[in-house]
Order: sequence, then structure tokens, then C-alpha cells
Amino acid sequence: MPEYLSTAPVKGTRDFVPAEMSVRTQVFGHLYDVLERYGFLRYDGPVLEPAEIYERKSGQEIADQQLYTLTTKGGERLALRPEMTPSVARMIAGNAKSLSFPVRWYSHPNCFRYERPQRGRVREHWQINADIFGSESANCEIEMFELIHDLMESVGASSDMFAVRVNDRNLLTSALTDVVGVSPEHLPAVFGLVDRWEKTSAEEHATSAEEIGLTDKQFEKLTEALGSGAALLDELPAEVKEQSNLVRVLSSSAASLVKFEPMIVRGLAYYTSTVFEVFDTSPKNRRALFGGGRYADLASLFTKERIPGIGFGMGDVTLIDFLDTHGLTPAPRNEVDVMVIPVTEELADAARQVATSLRRAGLRTSTPIEHRKLGKELTRADKAGAAAVVIVGQEDWEAGNVTVRSLATREQQQVALAEVPSIVGGLVTPA
Ligand code: HAM
Repeated sequence: MPEYLSTAPVKGTRDFVPAEMSVRTQVFGHLYDVLERYGFLRYDGPVLEPAEIYERKSGQEIADQQLYTLTTKGGERLALRPEMTPSVARMIAGNAKSLSFPVRWYSHPNCFRYERPQRGRVREHWQINADIFGSESANCEIEMFELIHDLMESVGASSDMFAVRVNDRNLLTSALTDVVGVSPEHLPAVFGLVDRWEKTSAEEHATSAEEIGLTDKQFEKLTEALGSGAALLDELPAEVKEQSNLVRVLSSSAASLVKFEPMIVRGLAYYTSTVFEVFDTSPKNRRALFGGGRYADLASLFTKERIPGIGFGMGDVTLIDFLDTHGLTPAPRNEVDVMVIPVTEELADAARQVATSLRRAGLRTSTPIEHRKLGKELTRADKAGAAAVVIVGQEDWEAGNVTVRSLATREQQQVALAEVPSIVGGLVTPA
């Protein structure tokens, strides 16, 4: 017995057979349309990058645990990109002279992270990225939140199906130091604790707080502050709030688009102020649909110029889970609009001529590759979701005609060759 290799894709990666790909193409098509309507320009870049662009600023989780690295024959240490933000910062820095800031760019890269595959998590995912570079204005934040709502609406979501949860790391720092009384040396560890807050139990919070060295009083205040939502803002010093774009958003008409949530920290180390995540309101999907934030100096990896950025990544896995959960997944598109079937093998050439005229008219058309009985081909046309078939018979063909049959009504008519594209076009409903 020969030993066959596995037909399964590598663990944590996925194949997309045409029916799945069709769903994805439709969904992403809506998202691209919205991004283009906002004036975002599409870019792309290499899957391979120097490993150090992630090791310097993305944070320990990505650098130590999730990076796929390799060493080339020339001794360079490279990584499969786990995210797009360092790459786009590199491109923006490299092209800064020819850009007129602010710029809006978007992309749809595949990203690789060595994570335990589970619901909402795989090892290769696709991520729509949208970022604005070169502006500190709170209008960037507002545009991001409007964009998120429009992206979600374009795939059929209503605003009760998802929540945009926002925070500002500087507000959180102030809450921890000014309200809870955490000392500067404990801050990084307490940030870590806040980041894990929603994923861990009250006992675990208490144990971690003790390990970090917080007093009981501080732990009590921390619990209270994190649970107080927008009321926490009243306790923060005015000079801290004045500096916060998020506070500006919360006092604008865009406030209704977001929910202030003091526990949102985000895992990536480069965020400097605003951070946000989009969650499904259904408890079935606990992982974020989008994650993003503002990064004041990621470009400083590559240039001395200061180029602030703000943006988000929206993952395909969590988006498709969201659509499935809410019954919003579109049906795969049918294979073809029309099939042209020759009654005998000798008429194959004639059928190809008819098919050519239909394709020129913009109709998705196929002809049989192998000759089979008419009945079998009609069944196949039905299965392929064709709206019509064109049957090419000897006598018809000699008289300059073919038979056009609607697969919806089963009615058929004899049609002169020149009329075929318009008659068939009338039977095909636009996709
Ligand atoms: P992130 O939160 O690491 O942010 O990822 C963004 C989104 O990508 C997540 O919300 C999730 O939908 C998806 N995602 C991440 N990892 C996986 C995985 N292992 N499997 C499936 N989906 C995943 C970033 O990557 C930032 N670079 C986003 C950004 C752009 N910030 C500013 N601009």
C-alpha cells in the first residue's frame, strides 16, 4: 500500500474551497467598498519581515510566544508577519517624503501567529487593516468609529449586535496612579492584571493583586474603578482629560458610537493612548472582532520623523463566526449564469462559438469539457445554479438558430444566433 500524504491543511491553517471563497469574496467586497468610500487607499507588502520589527515594539506575547521565525541561508532572521502595523509603519516611514499627510491606507493581509487553535483563533488569519497616519486630531478617532459602524452595517449587522468598547491608556494610567494609588514601579504589572481582568475570576484578581504588592485598600479601589464605567472619568484630573482625544470623542455627537470601558488595555505594546475593541454582543463569540488604537511613535523604528498613526485590524475568523451566529452569512454565488450544451460531440465547436458570444456580453458561461448525454448536462446545469441553458442541435444550427431554455420556468424557445445574448441576459437575474 503506498503511503498517501495527508489532504488536511497544516494545523491552524485553512483551505477555502470555492463555495467558502465565494462567501468571503462577497463579504470582503462590501468592506472594501466602505473603505474606498471613506477615501482609504489599498496597499500590500511582503509576508516576510525582519523578526526584530516585531520584537522591538509589538510586545512580549507576539515576540516570545507567537512569532514564526526562520533564518535564511544568508543568516538573516526573518518572521512571517503576525500583524501588519509594523510593516505599514515601515512603508509610511520609507515613503514619507512623497506623501501628503494625513493619509488613509488599508490592506487585507494574511497574518501568522503560533497560537493554540480554538474558536476565533487560528494560526493563519486574514485581517483587514485600516490606518490613518500623520494626525493627532480626535477627528481620526471619530472617523475610525464611524468607519467601524459602516463596515458592520455593510455586512448586514445592526448596532445591537456589536459593541465598540474604548479606552485611553493615559486615562487608565491616571486612574491607577491618581485614584487607586498604584506606584510607578507596579504600573506595568497592574496593566497586565487589568488586561486579564475580564478573562479571570475575582479570586484570581485578588491573588494577582497580592503578588504584585497592592494593599487590600488599593485592590478594593481598583475593583471599584474598573467597574465604574464612564463615572470613573469624573474622578480624573482635568489636565489629564484635556489631553485625551477619547474624552473629546465622548463629549461629541460620536459618543453614541462607543462605550467607555476602563478595562480595555489591548495586548500590543505600541499603543500610546486610545485603544478599542469591537465585540459581538452574542455570548457565543467571546473574542474581539476588531482591535485597534493610536500609536504615537511606531514609525520611530524607521525614521527620526514623528509620524503618529491610528487604526485597527479586523479578523476574518471572528467576522465569519459573527455572521454565522446572526444568520448574516451570504449564500455562495452560483457557478455560472448559462451553460451551452451541444447535442452531439460534432457540435462542440458550434457550442464554443455561442459561449464566446455570451461571455463577450458579460455572462458567466461554460460548455461541457467532456461530451455527455443532454439529460445529464441539464442536471449539471441545474446543480451549477445556471439560469438558462442554450442547446445546440444539428438542424437548428444549420438554420442559424439554437434553443434557449429557462431553468426557472423550464420554458424553451428557438432563438436566432444574433439574439442569443440578449434573450439569455434577460433570463439571468443580476447577482
Ligand atoms: P490584534 O488585536 O492583535 O491587533 O488583532 C486584530 C484582530 O485580528 C483581532 O481582533 C482578531 O479579530 C484578529 N486576530 C488576531 N489574532 C488572531 C488569530 N490568531 N486568529 C484569528 N484571528 C485573529 C493587531 O493585530 C493590530 N496590528 C491592529 C492594528 C492596526 N492596530 C492599529 N492598526
